[in-house]
Amino acid sequence: MGGYSKVNDQAQKLRELVNARTVNRNNDPVDLQNRSGIKKCKSLAVTSGKGGVGKTNLALYLSICLACENKKVLLLDADLGLANVHILLGVAPKKNISHFVEKECSIDELIYRSPYNIDIIPGGSGLEKLANLDLGRLEYLQHEFSRIEAIYDYIIVDTGAGIGNVVTHFASNTDAVLLVVTPEPTSLADSYAMVKVLYDKGCEKICVIVNMCLSEREGNETFDRLNTLVVKFLKRPLELYGFVPMNRELSEYIKRQKLIIIDRKNEHFTRTIKVLAKKICGTSVKNSQGFFAKIFKFKNKM
Ligand SMILES: Nc1ncnc2c1ncn2[C@@H]1O[C@H](COP(=O)(O)OP(=O)(O)O)[C@@H](O)[C@H]1O
Ligand SMILES: [Mg+2]
Repeated sequence: MGGYSKVNDQAQKLRELVNARTVNRNNDPVDLQNRSGIKKCKSLAVTSGKGGVGKTNLALYLSICLACENKKVLLLDADLGLANVHILLGVAPKKNISHFVEKECSIDELIYRSPYNIDIIPGGSGLEKLANLDLGRLEYLQHEFSRIEAIYDYIIVDTGAGIGNVVTHFASNTDAVLLVVTPEPTSLADSYAMVKVLYDKGCEKICVIVNMCLSEREGNETFDRLNTLVVKFLKRPLELYGFVPMNRELSEYIKRQKLIIIDRKNEHFTRTIKVLAKKICGTSVKNSQGFFAKIFKFKNKM
């Protein structure tokens, strides 16, 4: 019973956060000048081999739950083709990353302050253009992104799916990868291919979240199947991070552009995400260099 009242408190806290931040519905530029103090920001990519496995939903919910743990979170929508963090939130930010890359806005104007106490860099088609920018412009972009990185405790990167260059470049340069898999057999092969590429690109830590599980047993079996393959052929085990249950109501929330995790009726689901967020807080990672410093070595690495 204690657990339930705790979840109620958490849901309440989320609702209060929403109310407290509705003042920013006009999406005024973030006042970066007012925030001080350099922190070591951890970067996490939410990625997958296969599309439609729940990355964007999980990246958003985890970001919000990290904010509830008093972490300052920047959610980077790095899915080039299907940028849709803002769609889940039911908002239409005026600027996205392509405006910034194309010099049409400053970084302060780019960052969207959501009512859930997380800041968002809305996705757009600008990222693939990075590879063609001249060095001076790349250095400017890196400087600006690194400046804001210092403000945050976490950067959560919602990537596209699959083993393409841009996705794996982003994912392999984060401090840890959260690899989302589902119990479907097609997810297994695609996930294995993803792990192989990420390890090849020097990825240090891959943590698996099994989404859409019908039971804990199914989650364990899914992880074991993937991990057995990975250990056998790549000789480095994966880490099991957790399971997220199948929730058939989720698509209704998405259609209504409401967030499942602030609805009291879905406390069990919310609790699962909260546990994952706490686990993230307790995970130590090597982060010798900033995320954006690594990302902008495009010319050499892609
Ligand atoms: N735990 C879950 N239970 C049920 N459906 C889910 C779950 N997670 C995600 N989905 C569904 O999967 C679909 C794809 O989710 P999304 O987050 O956009 O995936 P991706 O970013 O990997 O393409 C959504 O329509 C959502 O309803
Ligand atoms: Mg997505």
